[in-house]
Amino acid sequence: MPGKPKYYLTTPIYYTNGLPHIGHTYSTIVCDTIRRYKRMRGYDVVMTTGTDEHGVNVERSAKKAGVPESEFVAKMAAEWRALWDELGVQGDEFIRTTDLKHAHTVQWLFKQCRDNGFVYPGHYTGQYCIYDNAYVDVKPGENCPDCGRPTETVTEANFYFKLSVFQKPLLDWYAKHPDFIQPEARRNEVLSFVEGGLRDLSITRTSIRWGIPVPGEEPHVFYVWFDALTAYLSAVGGPQYEKTGYWPADLHLVGKEIIRFHAVYWPAFLMAAGLPLPKQVWAHGWLLMDSAKMSKSLGNVVRPRPIVHVLGMDALRYYLLRETVFGQDGNFSYDALIQRYNSDLANGLGNLASRTAAMIEKNCGGKIPKPSALQLQDTALATKAQEAIGEVLEQYDKLGFSLALEEIWSLIAATDKYLTTEHPWSLGENEADQQRRATILWTTAEVLRIATALTHPVLPESTTKVWSLLGQPVQVGSFPLDGLRWGQIVPGTPLGKSPPLFPRIEKAEAIERMEAMENEAQKQPSPVTAPAVASTPTAGGAATAAAPAAAEKIGIEDFAKVEMRVGQIKTAERIVGADKLLKLTVDIGTEIRQICAGIAQYYEPEKLIGRKVAVVVNLAPRKLRGVESNGMIVAATVGPEGRPVLAGFPDEDVEIGARLK
Ligand code: MSP
Repeated sequence: MPGKPKYYLTTPIYYTNGLPHIGHTYSTIVCDTIRRYKRMRGYDVVMTTGTDEHGVNVERSAKKAGVPESEFVAKMAAEWRALWDELGVQGDEFIRTTDLKHAHTVQWLFKQCRDNGFVYPGHYTGQYCIYDNAYVDVKPGENCPDCGRPTETVTEANFYFKLSVFQKPLLDWYAKHPDFIQPEARRNEVLSFVEGGLRDLSITRTSIRWGIPVPGEEPHVFYVWFDALTAYLSAVGGPQYEKTGYWPADLHLVGKEIIRFHAVYWPAFLMAAGLPLPKQVWAHGWLLMDSAKMSKSLGNVVRPRPIVHVLGMDALRYYLLRETVFGQDGNFSYDALIQRYNSDLANGLGNLASRTAAMIEKNCGGKIPKPSALQLQDTALATKAQEAIGEVLEQYDKLGFSLALEEIWSLIAATDKYLTTEHPWSLGENEADQQRRATILWTTAEVLRIATALTHPVLPESTTKVWSLLGQPVQVGSFPLDGLRWGQIVPGTPLGKSPPLFPRIEKAEAIERMEAMENEAQKQPSPVTAPAVASTPTAGGAATAAAPAAAEKIGIEDFAKVEMRVGQIKTAERIVGADKLLKLTVDIGTEIRQICAGIAQYYEPEKLIGRKVAVVVNLAPRKLRGVESNGMIVAATVGPEGRPVLAGFPDEDVEIGARLK
């Protein structure tokens, strides 16, 4: 999408040792709302979500389930993805920390930090909380101060990151970028943490097997946060981030308990590697249940599926964004959820849409009527709608979702009132009355159009229906909000079909149905023992082939079976009828091989001549589009479109035929 400004945002990369509850859902829905909003503001947006799949917790959970870790995480990741699909979440990138491209990025980032002198080997003994995946500052035998669970004493060889030297650079960065950490309370918290001095950080483990290996330093594997945070970068090109153009991220959205990792460690890692820093880290509050943080360990979680099943995904999205002031904690209650559903969605937006359509159908032949002379009440409503546009956009820009929705619903309430005072249904059939009715209904339809466009980021499903009910030509999700003005609805536009929107629901019955579903779900076997959910491709069709096999560890003897050598391309030509393939001849030292490579859309044949590449030379020959291919050229898969980037040897004059190990 050339020309559009890029916007990159991320959700946290969720642990796979559990399934999502509505706390996780909250973060993801917020991100998806911002993503949709930014699209409507003309940005070329990429949103990354994903799963954090390494660490001792996964090792233990997989063992308990009696399956290899790779199988365990593949099934859990598929569950997470399936749920986001059901919630209408349009993640562009779903990164799994077991993806190969992620492993390469982590290893590359480590190398940058090490080459720049910010990594050193050492030993560490400390109390470790395996639930939070962090060393904690307590004595042996004491529990984790964050989650209250037992800690373990761990001594191990590891690599340290020199976090201590980043105190001043970080403080300078915060001072220069006052909006880097949001909201204010979190910024102050981070500032005083950093001002108190930083200790060097252990970034590898030798006690854990299930992790990304530190190249040349086995059995070291990367420590969870060095691994997980890097996923944000892996998703948009990793070492090749400049080519995708999405790094630095515009926004990392996280829950408040992980702000420190994002606002201290992550920028320090990036500084150490000489990489650009994200523009903002926003920490939202927690969803509470009975005044405690909703969490699996406390057993007070509410799952999203039953809510979506009974009330629809928009109801959950609306409730989460409307009920909690963004940045603060919010209490979840079924009562409040259904109350909001009935009053705001069924009686509010849903009712306004269906009664407007019914009146236009009955009185105006199913077409948007033509207004005539406007009266004071009409222009007052028009002014309110026009002002609402500005205010809502301003609130969305500040992530003030509840205020944005409050503003839209105040417009809906004003329109309901307008209809009550103007009562178009009681006007007669004489010309003056008909004209007046047409004006009222045009005005109402126009408010509805504006409210629908403004609400779309939060209620994607129902607003899409209302938009086509109003006969609007383009998809509401691609409507440019910058061009939204009062008076654009065109008289004569035929209405679309009237869809069912938010049927009213009886509270007790709804709660009973949701609870029954929740109980039923708990009786089901865990996804790890059940057959895998088919993993669905992300909306952007991104290259996310998270092959479980990629995560499986192989022995060195397995790797040794693959013979890779440095080759030099001698000739390159296109293959007629195969627009992705190039036919190459490659000198591998001992012979010249013919190899087909799927790189034709990204590499000009003539520019490849003389280039040194990595070649798998002991692959069985096969035919591609009828042309024999005897070997394989190694390439990285980069970006949402899965662009191949040839592995090469730019810095060294390597000998043709040299073996890669
Ligand atoms: N894997 C780490 C994050 C690594 S990011 C590079 C992790 N995962 S998690 O599965 O525990 O997800 C934590 C995130 O889920 C929180 O930061 C928050 O965004 C969301 N929430 C989990 N419980 C929550 C609530 N009760 N309320 C609101 N959000 C919560 O931490």
